[in-house]
Amino acid sequence: MSSVRLSFHLTRLTQSATRSSWRATAIGSRYMSQNISTTEEAAVSLDIEPSRLTVTKTMSPKELPASKNLMFGRTFSDHMLKIRWTEATGWEAPSIEPFDTINLSPGATVLHYAQSLFEGMKAYRHEDGTVTMFRPDMNMKRMNNSAERLALPAFDGNAFLECIKELISLDRQWIPKEPGHSLYIRPTLIGTNGTLGVAPPTEALLFVITSPVGPYYPHGFKPVPLHGTTEYIRAAPGGTGAYKLAANYAPGVVAQKSAAKQGYAQNLWLHGPEHWLTEVGTMNLFAVIKDKDGITELITPPLDGMILPGVTRDSVLALARNHASGVKRLGGLPDVIKVSERPINMGEIIQSSKEGRLIELFGTGTAAVVTPVDRIGYNGGDVTIPTGKDGMGPISEPLWAELVGIQTGAIKSNWNYVVAQ
Ligand SMILES: Cc1ncc(COP(=O)(O)O)c(C=O)c1O
Repeated sequence: MSSVRLSFHLTRLTQSATRSSWRATAIGSRYMSQNISTTEEAAVSLDIEPSRLTVTKTMSPKELPASKNLMFGRTFSDHMLKIRWTEATGWEAPSIEPFDTINLSPGATVLHYAQSLFEGMKAYRHEDGTVTMFRPDMNMKRMNNSAERLALPAFDGNAFLECIKELISLDRQWIPKEPGHSLYIRPTLIGTNGTLGVAPPTEALLFVITSPVGPYYPHGFKPVPLHGTTEYIRAAPGGTGAYKLAANYAPGVVAQKSAAKQGYAQNLWLHGPEHWLTEVGTMNLFAVIKDKDGITELITPPLDGMILPGVTRDSVLALARNHASGVKRLGGLPDVIKVSERPINMGEIIQSSKEGRLIELFGTGTAAVVTPVDRIGYNGGDVTIPTGKDGMGPISEPLWAELVGIQTGAIKSNWNYVVAQ
């Protein structure tokens, strides 16, 4: 490496090291603590560097799909972002390239040991043409946490976001214009070295693909019935449920198939002999119950290691707490509302239902924002869950309206990250 190039790298390295608060625990522990004394050693510490991004545009842009025909994750935009990492060089120069296949050694660790993690986020087009993402810093944090859990390399989330921004700006015509539509963004990190030992990967690929998506509920909210699942588990104490690892999802498919066969839309993952409610399919879960004093309580299970820390979950909690404390009142919510992150089990759901105190139950996630639930199949019977007349319940509706208002730009918020004006 020439000395000019090296000093450039070192300058960039110092800049990104000071810029980032939530990057590179793995890089930090593996490299930053090394005594950097030679040029080659210095180079291994490289983090993602947006100024090194190269862009190769497709020579054959695809025809944009009609928005009404969009099905989740079936259509991909013209370009993708790729950033390779090796233990020897650190993060290499990012590149935006035409969307295409990825070459992998048949021995790649991702194929054998599921060294793979991902994120799910969206770019929204506002009425005035501004394109934003919703709290992407949280996805970057979660992605780095997932990377650390898999001994995959972490990275500067701000720098990665800068590169994602370029990808979305380049493919912005792929963000459908119709209300309720968006561009789904799928960042993924995989171990790529072709060696069969079970060990931390020495080579990795971080890539991002994007896919135009329509509204989750094009014809109004449709409450879903859940199968109270106890025969399979999604997560366990000490496991990986709190991370967005590919390995958490593959085993859920059989459980989902089994729920569907019994006439339910999703699994309600129940944990332990007490049947604690954890998550709904691939969503976080909220229940609303009136306590014995008649106070409305919004309840979601605590982040105890089994629950994925959802961005929507966190946002719903923040909005509800701001309402409760008077920071920002939301029309439609009761004046007094208790917001709890606490365990809740099927016994409490059934009891509150019998006593007429169960108000609603819903899932939250990037895909649908809010999914109301109308029934839980449990112990051979069905527990009926109240729903509002238009599908959503009285507490989720104002929270949903506020969130969607922010995401679409109708409500100003510093949760929006501007991608393009
Ligand atoms: C298992 C699981 N729980 C919860 C969520 C919701 O998370 P978010 O609100 O960040 O989309 C998701 C989706 O990412 C998920 O896969």
